Amino acid sequence: MSNKVFIMDHPLIQHKVSLIRDINTGVKEFRELVEEIAMLMGYEVTRNLPLQQVEIETPVSRAKTNVISGKKLAIIPILRAGLGMVDGMLKLIPAAKVGHIGLYRDPESLDPIEYYCKLPTDIEDRELIVVDPMLATGGSASAAIQFIKEKGGSNIKFMCLIASPEGVQRVCKDHPDVDIYCGAVDEKLNDHGYIVPGLGDAGDRLFGTK
Ligand code: PRP
Ligand code: URA
Repeated sequence: MSNKVFIMDHPLIQHKVSLIRDINTGVKEFRELVEEIAMLMGYEVTRNLPLQQVEIETPVSRAKTNVISGKKLAIIPILRAGLGMVDGMLKLIPAAKVGHIGLYRDPESLDPIEYYCKLPTDIEDRELIVVDPMLATGGSASAAIQFIKEKGGSNIKFMCLIASPEGVQRVCKDHPDVDIYCGAVDEKLNDHGYIVPGLGDAGDRLFGTK
């Protein structure tokens, strides 16, 4: 099995990704934009949801028409910054369950440190969409996906706003079964593991910390 990597070239996504990159975009606008981009990307991520035919009555006649076939989904944000993408996804899929994985990067080693993990009990039956705005070294995404697999999840997609080539490569190598959806793949990582040009620290920009 080998990954598919989707870069969302829709003009609305590209426009909004440019806005969140801007150093002059403040917390309120940043938060709103992250939610909006997540919703727009969610449209593409859910493209292959199975449909089933139902029969309904319109004001004019009976009609055979399609509805989503009740596929069970869960959205799993990587804390903290992944939280900013949850509401946008829930606008599209309001009945989805939400799991949480808490990870932060050790500032020296850049290795992901786990501090929280709470997932729906039936993840083995669900389509799982892991969300995090940034895919930098790929350590956090790869570790989060590994936790999910250890707890029984197998049908996993990963969605981020901005990726580095290194991060994409890492997830592809560690988890060849996971498709990756991103708003942009940037040039490189700098010596501190930040994406260049990127948008800085997504968690700090989203929550106004620093
Ligand atoms: C950021 C981001 C990712 C991670 C990406 O989180 O939200 O989770 O870095 O970096 P990586 O691909 O090199 O692992 P951070 O560790 O800053 O934690 P925070 O969301 O709590 O701020
Ligand atoms: N985490 C972020 O928030 N930004 C980066 O550029 C890299 C990791």
